[in-house]
Amino acid sequence: MWISIIFFSFQFLKLLDAADLHVGVDKLYPTLTEAYNSANPGDIIYVFPGIYTEQLVIAKDNLTFRGSTFPSLNPSENNATLTHAASADDGSNDDSATLLVTASNFRLYNLNVENTFGQDVHAVAMSSTGSNNGFYACSFTSWQNTVYTHKGSEFFSRCYIEGAVDFIMGITGQAWFQGCTLGALKDKGWITAQGRTSSDSQGFFVFDKAKITIGTGAASATTAYLGRSWGDYARVIFQNSDLGNVITAAGWNTMSDDQVTTNVLFAEYANKNGAGTRVSWAKKLISAESISSILGAAYTSWVDSGYLNLSAL
Ligand SMILES: *[C@@H]1O[C@H](CO)[C@@H](O)[C@H](O)[C@H]1NC(C)=O
Ligand SMILES: *[C@@H]1O[C@H](CO)[C@@H](O)[C@H](O)[C@H]1NC(C)=O
Ligand SMILES: *[C@@H]1O[C@H](CO)[C@@H](O)[C@H](O)[C@H]1NC(C)=O
Repeated sequence: MWISIIFFSFQFLKLLDAADLHVGVDKLYPTLTEAYNSANPGDIIYVFPGIYTEQLVIAKDNLTFRGSTFPSLNPSENNATLTHAASADDGSNDDSATLLVTASNFRLYNLNVENTFGQDVHAVAMSSTGSNNGFYACSFTSWQNTVYTHKGSEFFSRCYIEGAVDFIMGITGQAWFQGCTLGALKDKGWITAQGRTSSDSQGFFVFDKAKITIGTGAASATTAYLGRSWGDYARVIFQNSDLGNVITAAGWNTMSDDQVTTNVLFAEYANKNGAGTRVSWAKKLISAESISSILGAAYTSWVDSGYLNLSAL
């Protein structure tokens, strides 16, 4: 009987106490992958300052990673970096990802995630294929396909996302970007490539209170399109955002010259510093889109509420 009581208590404690795992040169886990391998759902993994060169795949649900500067709301203060260089030419976009999240209810705070492969190839920094994954005050950098909202629902707040070509892309993923800063690296590049292919697909990107800037080291005359339609039913909204005088007057364009744009929803509401004559098929909204229309009413159960409604820095 004592044994069963002890066993029961142990199981009970295990359920109550999520573990904290520490990653760092002088910590129990020298890499994020080793900490991940030991982690159980509900655990929190702290990443101490450093540069971690590895590819990380998250396949267990309900894990949280916090970089050393947590809870800073400013990603430029981050000093924990996950970095790797791989191109999709050697496999798929997901194979190239420095961070691939196939699990759900994942939370990532204050980490820089880089794919340093270089120019003119698909090279993903982060791909998410699970659901209800949240990214807070993180920085994602690459050249092409930096952030791949591959499937399911994602919330990004106060993140810095940098790239040259289609640097936020996806087909069926639904993503809300709150107060993110988007750094454009290439003149006449594209911030988004949304590839929704039919009217019953959930794919949708909404940027609220975003700020568009010229990316690190790019020429001061760099311009960018808000996006190009990768699918005939592409949906992207920029609202309440500062377009930073970086956006081309046309604003948007298509992936191919013969693309039908009748069902594309590329829209804006209450943006500043980016006026111009948009392509004829772009839309102006009469009110802002709501987060629940993109992520569903249950978003409050998984989005960290401290990061709602923030503006870009
Ligand atoms: C993850 O969290 C959700 C929501 O709290 C819960 O329903 C689910 O059972 C958890 N999964 C695991 C593997 O702990
Ligand atoms: C990391 O950032 C924190 C907060 O900004 C700071 O206190 C700490 O000294 C930094 N560590 C390193 C190694 O830069
Ligand atoms: C969001 O912020 C704006 C401006 O700061 C404010 O007017 C609005 O009431 C806020 N909305 C919510 C839901 O907190």
